[in-house]
Amino acid sequence: MSSVIYEKDQDNIVHLILDKPNANANLMDQEFTASLITAVEKLREDDYAGVIFRSNKSTFFAGGNLDDLFATQKENADALYDMVNRLKLAMREIETQGKPVVACINGAALGGGWELALSAHYRIAMSKNVVLGLPEVTLGLLPGGGGVIRMTRLLGVQAAMPYLLEGKQFKPEKGLELGLINEIVESPEAMLDAAIAWIKANPTATQPYDIKGSKVPGGLPTQPALARMLPIAPAMVRAKTKGTLPAPESILAVMVEGLQVDIDTAMRIESRYFVELVCSQVAKNMINTFWFQLNEIKAGAARPKNIERKKVKKVGILGAGMMGAGIAYSSAAKGINVVLKDVNIAAAEKGKAYSENIVNKKVKQKRLSSDKADALLNAISPTENALDLADCDLVIEAVFEDRGLKAKVTQEAEAQLSASAVFASNTSTLPITGLAQASQRPENFIGLHFFSPVDKMPLVEIICGEKTSDETLALAYDYVQQIGKTPIVVNDSRGFYTSRVFGTFANEGIAMLGEGFSASAIENAAYLSGFPVGPLAVTDEVSLTLVDKIRKQTRLDLEAEGKEYPHHPSEAVVDKMLALDRAGKLAGSGFYSYADNELANGSKKQLWVGLKDTFEQADKAINLDELKDRLLYIQAIETVRCLEENVLTSVRDANIGSIMGIGYPVWTGGILQFINQTGLETFIERAEYLHENFGERFKVPNLLKEMAKDNLVFKDS
Ligand code: NAI
Repeated sequence: MSSVIYEKDQDNIVHLILDKPNANANLMDQEFTASLITAVEKLREDDYAGVIFRSNKSTFFAGGNLDDLFATQKENADALYDMVNRLKLAMREIETQGKPVVACINGAALGGGWELALSAHYRIAMSKNVVLGLPEVTLGLLPGGGGVIRMTRLLGVQAAMPYLLEGKQFKPEKGLELGLINEIVESPEAMLDAAIAWIKANPTATQPYDIKGSKVPGGLPTQPALARMLPIAPAMVRAKTKGTLPAPESILAVMVEGLQVDIDTAMRIESRYFVELVCSQVAKNMINTFWFQLNEIKAGAARPKNIERKKVKKVGILGAGMMGAGIAYSSAAKGINVVLKDVNIAAAEKGKAYSENIVNKKVKQKRLSSDKADALLNAISPTENALDLADCDLVIEAVFEDRGLKAKVTQEAEAQLSASAVFASNTSTLPITGLAQASQRPENFIGLHFFSPVDKMPLVEIICGEKTSDETLALAYDYVQQIGKTPIVVNDSRGFYTSRVFGTFANEGIAMLGEGFSASAIENAAYLSGFPVGPLAVTDEVSLTLVDKIRKQTRLDLEAEGKEYPHHPSEAVVDKMLALDRAGKLAGSGFYSYADNELANGSKKQLWVGLKDTFEQADKAINLDELKDRLLYIQAIETVRCLEENVLTSVRDANIGSIMGIGYPVWTGGILQFINQTGLETFIERAEYLHENFGERFKVPNLLKEMAKDNLVFKDS
């Protein structure tokens, strides 16, 4: 079957209609390659006026077939190399016949879709529902269908960087500005008319890079303007990736190497780097998690089946502090009406002012129209009166982390709510089942754990208490998706999944300081592993007072349950820091200095020099791999414990939660994928070494040993 329909119109124009049989979207796969080659063979025999690429699907073209790419291993690398080269030769043949080629972009053209569009001489896009770009890098890949080569030649190295190295997507208007889109139209009919008119008006056409003597914007690597900047470019990439992500480095190499040869050789260079990345472990990790597993979450893998999807129309938020204000903004931004309650109207209005600030900034930067800004702000009603909560479908409490207060506001709200309304707590540490005891309807009670800053963080951890019903979970899941965030679902436990595992990271780093390692070595071990923030920096952000409070509460709770409190070597360091009155960023000083009197000229923050005398041992030998592994392993081990205890019930939630919620390094594809790729046997060996040398907390969980015995890996069924 063919993915490309060949049709000729009365103007002698060939329409290559992209229409993969029995599929929702067009894919750049074997079938498409064969179909395009057949179309090219037909064109060779044909006498035609021009070519129009257009799609019969609601999108233009979706891109590479990730199932195939995920399955490709070194053994079949040659076949993939062969396929992409054949595909690119076909695209080159169409664009070099001297006949005009137009792409009619009716919907999303991302990845392979945008690469195909780039091979046309003229690109027309519909004004609505079109998004363009090359997001391959976000899956550890590079655009292997000519995307790197064409974007670099059309835009120049520097201007193409954000689109290739970061996978930045753009709308047709931006495309017009960049000269990548030639026309924007309002309807499919207008698009076709415009395409035909352009072909008639331009009986011959050549790509800018095929015109003899043409210049690449910004110059070639051999010319001074670009040559001056090139030595810095790899360092800029490394500053972001710390060398943990091969794709941006390969893309940069293709951009620069590709400009030093003719275009056909450049295409082959691109294919070589592409195939190498496809076979790399990092790409497998990223495709596994950010494609397959994330799509399963989007499709509702952990949402109870057979419960109708609902939309939240009105949400009540109790507490207009940092979290409440952020949740209000994120909800109103998606058109949900918000009742924002605090102890007095001034506090509630202060919470709304948070949204006003964001919105004003966006309007100023022309990222939001003033109509939309007004609508967003009008959707938030500040109040001090619980009566205003009536008709909320969902209430989220974000008051102080205090059991008594949380119980009080639960009862106050429930008195106003309908029997089906859901009550959620944004507690970061208190078990949900316990909080639900204050509720008349514990089956309607659930945890919705947001991350700070709410408007930027993509994850929400949904926590089911013992009595939480399926209907309640379904509504919570729907709401999280409605506000454009990604839900993971976990069962109740102290710290749930994310805070519990994250705590092990911070504590491990602090413990290292207590052992005498230099603070900079500890922070760098984290950065070099791919963590976005070091354990000491992040503890300063959270505040050592809070760390101390949580520790004391945990101890009291465990003692009340008759359990032993497991002391952690980080505690002595925290005690010492608090005794020195260095409680973290908000307090003005912590592991880092923030105040002018402690800072070198011009710097905003730096590690506190006093750490040297207080904790560090100048002669302490540093084994960087060991420090890195301690940070990676301690979190992975705690995650396996969460699985053992049924706090986590899926691999996808563990992986996505670890990356989107707690900053586990992206290259790993998530915490459990880190264990998979290390190999369970190897992981266990290393963990046993860490256990012997650094303590009980590294003890290998039984589940892991059992799985290794059975040769299993972490995978959802
Ligand atoms: P916050 O201190 O900024 O805000 C709490 C707000 O609750 C204050 O505005 C206070 O006036 C209000 N409040 C107190 N009693 C109230 C009542 N009876 N009715 C209505 N409002 C009342 O605290 P934050 O940081 O926003 O935290 C709120 C909750 O979210 C806590 O449970 C915290 O553990 C949790 N959380 C915090 C995160 C963070 O990064 N700060 C992350 C995730 C959860």
